[in-house]
Amino acid sequence: MYDLASVRAQLPTLRSFTYLNTGTLGIMAEPVLARYREAVERAQRFGHLVLEEFQEASERVRVEFAELLGVRSEELAFTGNTTDGIALVLASFPFAAGDRILTSDQEHPAVLLPLTLACRRRGVVLEQFRVSTEKEETREAFAAALVRTRPRLVVVSHVSCETGVRLPIEDMTRLAHAEGARVLLDTAQSIGQFPVNLATLGVDFAAGNGHKWLHGPQGTGFLYVRQDNLDLLEPPLVGDGSVVTPFDRHSFQFDGTNWSFRGDARRFEYGTRDVARVIGLGAAIEYLGSLGWEAIARHQLRLVAWLRERLQHHPAICWYSATRAEDGSGLVTLGVTGWDGERLSRVLWEAYRIVQRRVQVPNGVRVSCAYFTSEDDLDRLVAALEELAGYHQLS
Ligand SMILES: Cc1ncc(COP(=O)(O)O)c(C=O)c1O
Repeated sequence: MYDLASVRAQLPTLRSFTYLNTGTLGIMAEPVLARYREAVERAQRFGHLVLEEFQEASERVRVEFAELLGVRSEELAFTGNTTDGIALVLASFPFAAGDRILTSDQEHPAVLLPLTLACRRRGVVLEQFRVSTEKEETREAFAAALVRTRPRLVVVSHVSCETGVRLPIEDMTRLAHAEGARVLLDTAQSIGQFPVNLATLGVDFAAGNGHKWLHGPQGTGFLYVRQDNLDLLEPPLVGDGSVVTPFDRHSFQFDGTNWSFRGDARRFEYGTRDVARVIGLGAAIEYLGSLGWEAIARHQLRLVAWLRERLQHHPAICWYSATRAEDGSGLVTLGVTGWDGERLSRVLWEAYRIVQRRVQVPNGVRVSCAYFTSEDDLDRLVAALEELAGYHQLS
C-alpha cells in the first residue's frame, strides 16, 4: 500500500537535501538496501558455496522482471545498463551498407554513440524526426519520416531525457512495422515511472536499467529481444553461458564448429556475473511492486500537474515539458529567464540543496518527481525558482 510518509521514512537521506534527480540516479530504500547488502555479503563471504543458490535466485528475478515488463523470461537478458542493450542490438543487427536507421532529435548519448559507431563500422545512414510536446505532432512527424527515409530500424526513447515527453510508442511501432522497420526502444526513463508492457507496445527490442526509476543497484539493466527476432541477432561476443555446447565441458575438447548460440536471450550473457546486483534489483522490483505501480504513476503525475499549476502563469519561468499529463511523465524541464541552465543548476544545489540536473537543449534544469517526492519538496523548488527569477529582474 502506498503511503508517502512511510515511503519517505525508508529514505533517510531525504532529511538532508531535496532529491529531484531520479532521472539520473534513483536512491535506494532501506529495505531494498538491506537485502542487497545481505546478498553482497553472502556472495563475497561464501563464494562457490552459494553460487547455485544465487543463480536460482537470479532466475527468479528474471521471471519477476519479465512479468513486470509483460514479456517471457526467455526474452530477457541481464545487462549492466541501458547502453549495453542498445549497443548489443546495434552491433548484432544484420545491417547492409546504406541501410537507414531512424531516431529522434531528443536521444541520449547512450543511443547516439552506438548509432554513430554503427554508421562508421557498418555503413548505415542516420535519419531523425522531431519530438514535440504534443503526441499527435510527434506521431505525424514520425510517420512522415518513415515514408521519407524507409528505415530498417527505428531506435527511440520511450520518455525523452531532455523534456520528459512520453512518446506514443504503440502507434509508432504499428506504423514502423507497416513500413517493414523494426523498433528498438530505450526505456531508461520509463520503466518504473509507469507500467510498461513491452508486448503491448509491440517493440522488437528494448533496453533499460535498474538504477533510475526502479531505484535498484547501479550496474543493472536488461535487453529484451522478442522471441521471433532472436535468430536475427548474432551476438558480437561469445562465452561460456551464451552457447549450447554439445561437448563435454570438463574435457574441454571442442572442435570449434559444432555449437550454436542459446535459443533464448541469454545468448547475450556469458562468464561470471555479479548476481548480488540482480538480487538487489529483484528486491527493488518487489518493494516498489508492494507500493503499487499504478499508485506510483498516479503520485508522480499528480505532482507534475501540481507543479505546472504553480508555475504556468509565472512570466519568467518556462515549462519545456508536455502540457497534457498523458503526454508527459514525472520528468520535467524548466527554465528561468536570464539564467543559463548550467548556472541555474549549480545555484539550486549550492544555495538551496536541491538535487536536479542541467539540460543543454532546452536550456534549463530537469527535475524528477519520483514515488517519494512530496509537495514540500516542490514547494522548496518553486520558492527557489521564484526567488532566482526575481533576483534576475532586480540585477
Ligand atoms: C533516455 C536515456 N537513455 C539512456 C540513458 C543511459 O542509461 P544507462 O546509464 O543505463 O546506460 C539515459 C541516462 O540518463 C537516458 O536518460
